Amino acid sequence: MYAKIIGGNRIEGEAVLQGSKNAVLPMIAASVLCRGEVRIEHCPAISDVRELLTVLSKTGAVCELKDGVLTIDASDAVPFSIDREQAKKTRGGVLFLGAFLGRFHEAGIAYPGGCVIGERPIDLHCAVLRKLHVVLTETSEGVYGKGRPVGERVELSYPSVGATENAVLAAVCAKGRTELLGAATEPEITELCRFLNKAGAVIHGIGTNYLVIDGVSELHGVTYRLSGDRIVAGTYMAAAAITGGEVVLRGAEDVCMDGILPVLQAAGTQIRREKDLLVVTGNDRVLAVPYIKTAPFPAFPTDMQSQILALLSMADGDSVVCETVFESRFAVVPELCKMGADILSEGQCAVVHGVRQLHGADVKAADLRGGAALLLAGLAAEGETKVYGYEYIARGYEDICGLLKRLGADIMRMEDS
Ligand code: EPZ
Repeated sequence: MYAKIIGGNRIEGEAVLQGSKNAVLPMIAASVLCRGEVRIEHCPAISDVRELLTVLSKTGAVCELKDGVLTIDASDAVPFSIDREQAKKTRGGVLFLGAFLGRFHEAGIAYPGGCVIGERPIDLHCAVLRKLHVVLTETSEGVYGKGRPVGERVELSYPSVGATENAVLAAVCAKGRTELLGAATEPEITELCRFLNKAGAVIHGIGTNYLVIDGVSELHGVTYRLSGDRIVAGTYMAAAAITGGEVVLRGAEDVCMDGILPVLQAAGTQIRREKDLLVVTGNDRVLAVPYIKTAPFPAFPTDMQSQILALLSMADGDSVVCETVFESRFAVVPELCKMGADILSEGQCAVVHGVRQLHGADVKAADLRGGAALLLAGLAAEGETKVYGYEYIARGYEDICGLLKRLGADIMRMEDS
């Protein structure tokens, strides 16, 4: 599957922002802890969600995603070991570790394995679960945990999003109180904690890097409306910016854009909030941004790094973008250079020398956000661009071709011949 784009059209109009991928994935894992129906509204129809539901249904949980409403009933779920094939496809599957331990007091998962953005080990996940008295056995294939978590005062050596989520999922039904220091504070963690408290958990310090969790025996059913996806919002804002258009994103009332707005504004984009709207107007020419560094929240997020590279490739000067979260997240650079971008990546940093015009080319996505970046470049490039590897993009963006088309892009999703 690939996207075919004829560049040059302004991206203009109003669109509804999809629900947050990185907030709903841990909630799907968390539903294992709930006795009764979990109902998540505004759930995005993306392949990462479908993959995780496939795993969840193997436990006997009843799952349905229809018209943006996800219902899960895991009351009769039983433990299920996630094999390598499944673990590779579903990175979010690692979150079943904490949830299964909290519910079944046992869990087995193959290592999710690395991907193009980095090795992505789970040593921090294992360390925090061991501190919660889980007996974890690691083999060359994966990890197996046994025992009901017991609350402790634990500190994360790095604010890993996934390790924080696994710690919280193991602690909410643990025996006693857990104090989690050095927790990640991404909005998705805040949202997961709010969801869990609505389901009967007792979590204090939500939104901070010091979470105090009093274990309860079980959680009950819950109805929760997912907030908008901040990275998808940033991506469509970059689409307006790179084409000099204007986009109004609806459903953004509770979307935290910390870290993202300042960078887009520095690149010349005008942005204003009006109730649940984010109104974004592109500049005639993208402005270079001397230095950008990705880091854990509330800094500029790594998941917007590839998209910003695409935007700055057409800026009026030189920009430097440094990636400090993942060890190799510049796979999109050679693909952007095929379109005429002038980017040199060296180690953790990329120097972007802005050019006046990109030209269409056949390019290939190697990861989700790199794929989104190539679509952005194709929107502004002169001529035809084909972005292969569309299945990566479909992991996190709900019908991005249809949405961009409605906003004026000349874009089509095509099946490989
Ligand atoms: C989550 O991944 C997101 N995925 C990622 O989004 C996001 O880029 C990342 O957080 C950082 O914000 C989901 O939420 C499903 P980490 P996660 O643990 O949890 C290292 C996207 O495009 N690390 O914070 O895997 C790790 O290798 C995706 O939507 C260890 O060394 O991120 C990385 O270098 C991509 N050992 C850094 O920490 C561990 O045990 C940050 O990883 C865990 C992580």
